[in-house]
Amino acid sequence: MDAIKDFLLPPAKSTLAEQTDSLFWFVHGSSLILTIGLIAVIVYFVYKYRRKSKDETTPLITHNNALEVTWSVIPLILVLIVFGWGYQVFMNQTVVPDDAYEVNVTAQKWIWQFKYENGAQSTGKLHVPAGRPIKLIMSSNDVIHSFFVPDYRLKQDVVPGRYTEMWFNAPEPGTSIIFCTEYCGDGHSDMLGEVVVHEEKEFKNWLAENAGGGSKPEDLAPEEWGEQLAQEWACTTCHSTDGSQMTGPTWQGKFGNEENLADGSTVTIDENYLRESILEPNAKIVEGFPAVMNTYQGQLNDEQINAIIEYIKTLK
Ligand code: CUA
Repeated sequence: MDAIKDFLLPPAKSTLAEQTDSLFWFVHGSSLILTIGLIAVIVYFVYKYRRKSKDETTPLITHNNALEVTWSVIPLILVLIVFGWGYQVFMNQTVVPDDAYEVNVTAQKWIWQFKYENGAQSTGKLHVPAGRPIKLIMSSNDVIHSFFVPDYRLKQDVVPGRYTEMWFNAPEPGTSIIFCTEYCGDGHSDMLGEVVVHEEKEFKNWLAENAGGGSKPEDLAPEEWGEQLAQEWACTTCHSTDGSQMTGPTWQGKFGNEENLADGSTVTIDENYLRESILEPNAKIVEGFPAVMNTYQGQLNDEQINAIIEYIKTLK
């Protein structure tokens, strides 16, 4: 039984996942039993009431009260069980416990950003303490995205212009994948993230180290930090670093050269052009590429932008 469960569903890593799964198995189990029963009866009747002689006539049957009540009452009971049970699970998932730890989530094409109580920030990775209810307050900077963690059996739309919420409690340290599950453009299928569940103490350390957010790790050279940022901020979802063609122009071999723009003019790729392209992506569109990039104004600070430019310079 456990083998079938593992084959059909991802591991259940939140306190409420088991509840969802039990209901899931009840609905599917009862449907399976009814389906097999129905098919057995059909096969039996096909055989029993087959035409045996040429001039046989079908007898006239009007109704059968006992049978009709039976096949109405049994499904009614099943539907009421599923409703009551489903309502309970839904309420458990919807009502956030009062002591929940809050994290702000911002979605934009095509990254997940997380902001914590002390100003700490992370991109792509949601850091949370184990064994505590976590409340996510989510919003989008552009189109509709959807935050989906299969291991927690949770999915919630993330919408521009308003907040949506969801909560979970992951008792064990470990990682779980986050998918965007609302089609949001070219990079949708690459809009991945990860929940990193820490022991309480480890989480406190992580939070303290990242307080204020966005300053350079001391042991890194600017170009190394830039490479790290390019991955964290998902630049590399659209810009290859090896010359291959993706949604946006590659970063390889570009610095110092000329670029042809969609309006027929050309521009030299220098620090100012790169900075402008990060802050105002639609100011200069490269010929042959769609104008789909979002601004990173107010998200990447000057130090981070410099580091990314330093990294691009190293891609010869
Ligand atoms: Cu964001 Cu799909």
